[in-house]
Amino acid sequence: MNWKEEYADKIVSVQEAVSHVQSGNRIVFSHACGEGQYLTDELVNQAERLENVEIVHMVAMGTAPYCQPGMEKHFRHNALFVGGSTRKAVEEGRADYTPCFFHEIPRLFTDGCLPVDVAFIQVSLPDERGYCSFGISVDYTQPAAQAAKLVIAQVNKNMPYTYGNGIHLKDIDFIVEKDEPLIELPPPKIGETERKIGEYVASLIHDGDTLQLGIGAIPDAVLSFLGEKKNLGIHSEMFSDGVVDLARKGVITNTKKTINPGKFVSCFLMGTRKLYDFVDHNEDVLIEAVDYTNDPFVVAKIDNIISINSAIQVDLMGQTNSEMIGNRQFSGVGGQVDFVRGASRAKGGKAIIAMPATAAKGKISKIVPLLDEGSAVTTSRNDIDYVVTEFGIASLKGTTLRQRAKALIEIADPRFKPSLITEFEKRFHCSYAK
Ligand code: COA
Repeated sequence: MNWKEEYADKIVSVQEAVSHVQSGNRIVFSHACGEGQYLTDELVNQAERLENVEIVHMVAMGTAPYCQPGMEKHFRHNALFVGGSTRKAVEEGRADYTPCFFHEIPRLFTDGCLPVDVAFIQVSLPDERGYCSFGISVDYTQPAAQAAKLVIAQVNKNMPYTYGNGIHLKDIDFIVEKDEPLIELPPPKIGETERKIGEYVASLIHDGDTLQLGIGAIPDAVLSFLGEKKNLGIHSEMFSDGVVDLARKGVITNTKKTINPGKFVSCFLMGTRKLYDFVDHNEDVLIEAVDYTNDPFVVAKIDNIISINSAIQVDLMGQTNSEMIGNRQFSGVGGQVDFVRGASRAKGGKAIIAMPATAAKGKISKIVPLLDEGSAVTTSRNDIDYVVTEFGIASLKGTTLRQRAKALIEIADPRFKPSLITEFEKRFHCSYAK
């Protein structure tokens, strides 16, 4: 059978494909905007015949109907990163969170920790050799599909064909054709605070540097200050629309990268159709599995890599909590520590944590004497490098506890400085002014 016959042979209705899921199975979904929503919706339609199906997923960017109250008997979501549509279920004990570094997730699926019964993947149309591309979600999705006993693929012509990944039709068990629009993430609104932070972060970036960008308004604000730079590169776990404009302007050329020169490298993408069209059949873009992109030892080989991520709180020792609000799991570690560690080991690398100095409309300082009770340390005090707020830059590598506390108080919101200074003087038995 040639691959075209094989393709035709494997096409089934969505009802039939999903009917192969059994009670007690573990299903892994494509990550973030890569989720095949047609498959998800059908799974939920078949809820009544299913019990204790575990749905392993990282950021759910769709509506996550399997997390709704009433679904507990049928589905249990195991979040590897908590997102907007799954947060309430985790908070209310109807879903779980598993702490894990992003680059280690493929190993959870392959080393027996989380054996995969079924992979629900969404892929591009096949190429002339019979390979479909994982498009905008390769990350843990490709390794999960390789490890799964059963692979159900939604083939969608709207999924861009990206290089650096793929699955041959012979490795797919059932194909469901559905050309629904991909989930999109509109560009964030950038306010004055983000702009100031962006300007400070941009001052740490030089011509020829390679960037890892986290998600949200701050990375986009940083990009808006890079228009005059030359020969920047991208090696990131994800990127969004902001990168496309700088690529078109010739600011990002990837020519100075010490690995994968000439290529944008990432493991997933979240943006609008503009981004998805940019990467489609673009030989300058490599979308690879996360155990390559985020491996700190790979990142460490990239000279002058600058990682830019955010946090919920930073304490006076430089520990970040980037994922919890008190004892509530708000997000996850994602790739933060992967890149902080990799960038710190890289020649000329810098690891930046950039965040507004306050939260809750200015009522709460994000620079705090102690992390909130019950919260986790995401980036440790031994790993922390730069912290940036709208009030400046604190360079913490190699600083004493006293020096770093002072540097962090200098970039706190002035309204919170008096209480932080009182804490400093109590802790270090010396005057802050000295
Ligand atoms: N105390 C209480 N609430 C806080 C807070 C604090 N110290 N800091 C933030 N918040 C609240 C905000 O008020 C906001 O609440 P709202 O949703 O009700 O408005 C919410 O938390 C999110 O804050 P915001 O500043 O808008 O977050 P963000 O979208 O910029 O994301 C992180 C910031 C830290 C949550 C996010 O970057 C993250 O999850 N990082 C860890 C993973 C990571 O870095 N991955 C690598 C790249 S993808």
